[in-house]
Amino acid sequence: MIAERAPETPLKWAGGKRWLAPHLRQLWQAYLQRQPQARLVEPFCGSLSVALNLQPERALLNDLNPHLVNFWRQVQRGLQVTLPMANEKALYYAHRDRFNTLIATGQAESAEAAQLFYYLNRTGFNGLCRFNKKGRFNVPFGRYKRIAYWQTADFARLAPYLARWTFTAGNFDALALQPEDFIYADPPYDVEFTSYSAGGFSWADQVRLAEWLSAHPGPVVLSNQATARIVELYQACGFELLYLEAPRRISANGDRAPACEVLSSKNISLDIIAMPVQRKLIKTRSYPKVTKRSHTGKVHEDLAELALKKGGYSVQKQVDIGVLSTGKTYRADLVASKSDSQFLISLKWQQSPGTAEEKIPFEVICLIEAVQKSNGKYKHAYLVLGGDGWTLRDSYTSGKLCSHLNYQKLVTIITLEKFIGLANNAQL
Ligand SMILES: C[S@@+](CC[C@H](N)C(=O)[O-])C[C@H]1O[C@@H](n2cnc3c(N)ncnc32)[C@H](O)[C@@H]1O
Repeated sequence: MIAERAPETPLKWAGGKRWLAPHLRQLWQAYLQRQPQARLVEPFCGSLSVALNLQPERALLNDLNPHLVNFWRQVQRGLQVTLPMANEKALYYAHRDRFNTLIATGQAESAEAAQLFYYLNRTGFNGLCRFNKKGRFNVPFGRYKRIAYWQTADFARLAPYLARWTFTAGNFDALALQPEDFIYADPPYDVEFTSYSAGGFSWADQVRLAEWLSAHPGPVVLSNQATARIVELYQACGFELLYLEAPRRISANGDRAPACEVLSSKNISLDIIAMPVQRKLIKTRSYPKVTKRSHTGKVHEDLAELALKKGGYSVQKQVDIGVLSTGKTYRADLVASKSDSQFLISLKWQQSPGTAEEKIPFEVICLIEAVQKSNGKYKHAYLVLGGDGWTLRDSYTSGKLCSHLNYQKLVTIITLEKFIGLANNAQL
């Protein structure tokens, strides 16, 4: 069933994307023209504000939060409101205790737990969903003047929209995808300069997600905060990028600047999005200067390291190999090993055309010498080219330019995408 006006979500949810949904809808509709049976997959479905706007016939909706997923399953079955709901402190804490008792006694998947989850979400502080170390929900009473609680009839009106959707609770990478699935991924925001960000979603998780999304053959759209490292990560994975000014604001040094969001896609072009859908949104192809720090080398290294580990290699970073005939110590970006074979990896990045690529033959010479001098310790070296700014990439990866060097077979020049594919499948 398709409604003219998208039904609203009953929940308040951090990072909810109601404002972005009209843009995503344009991409989804364009894909449906090609694939009328397409399935929407949201690995981080949260408050469902996107699915409710897109209204797909088929959807796989997942979230790590099991209480949220129980709530949606209960709405699907026609949730009845039987508990008292009021914006009162004493009632809030009584309901909070009862919710924690249900969790502690294995009754978290009940209709009662779903009602309490809804009540706590609407009445608690800022719609937060937070648990202490013992697994007890510990969000304090909120500060709302008035709350319009949904009644049984409101949930009954929502239920038919959810009727044909599948809900799962788990980690994003446990999802069983089909090749034609349209994935919209909205993970917890990356928080720059930390390896552990809000919601327990670390930088390593962001890198793992980028690789997981890259491997999908169908259309993929991701939204995240436009931090420098997220931008570089998705550029490194060959995604198309677009920047949007989000309605929320972030506070940097007391300045309340509008937050900048990045949309990135693969196997579907963002050019389909006609702007402005809402007046507040800007669309730009150029990267707004969110931070001056660049993480390019780090991102590149993280991607390669993750792929190698998936392929069963052990990895060392920034390894001193020895002094070369230049008189300088050669330091390899990575050394990978498996069984009794070890090889060197040098990672080079060029995002826009420049002179960095002219240094590649010199790097090949250094790698050849490093392999030869190791007396058989290192069997081979890979020189990995990442980024879109190479004009000589084809000449390098085909071996044409380096064919003038003796022993050039000791080094393979390869694109980052190809390297990741081979490393993942243990084929290096
Ligand atoms: C930014 S919110 C998604 C918001 C959603 N698009 C909406 O409009 O409401 C991110 C969601 O990811 C979920 N999450 C966090 N880590 C996860 C993981 N490893 N796998 C799956 N979901 C996860 C959180 O519970 C949260 O609901």
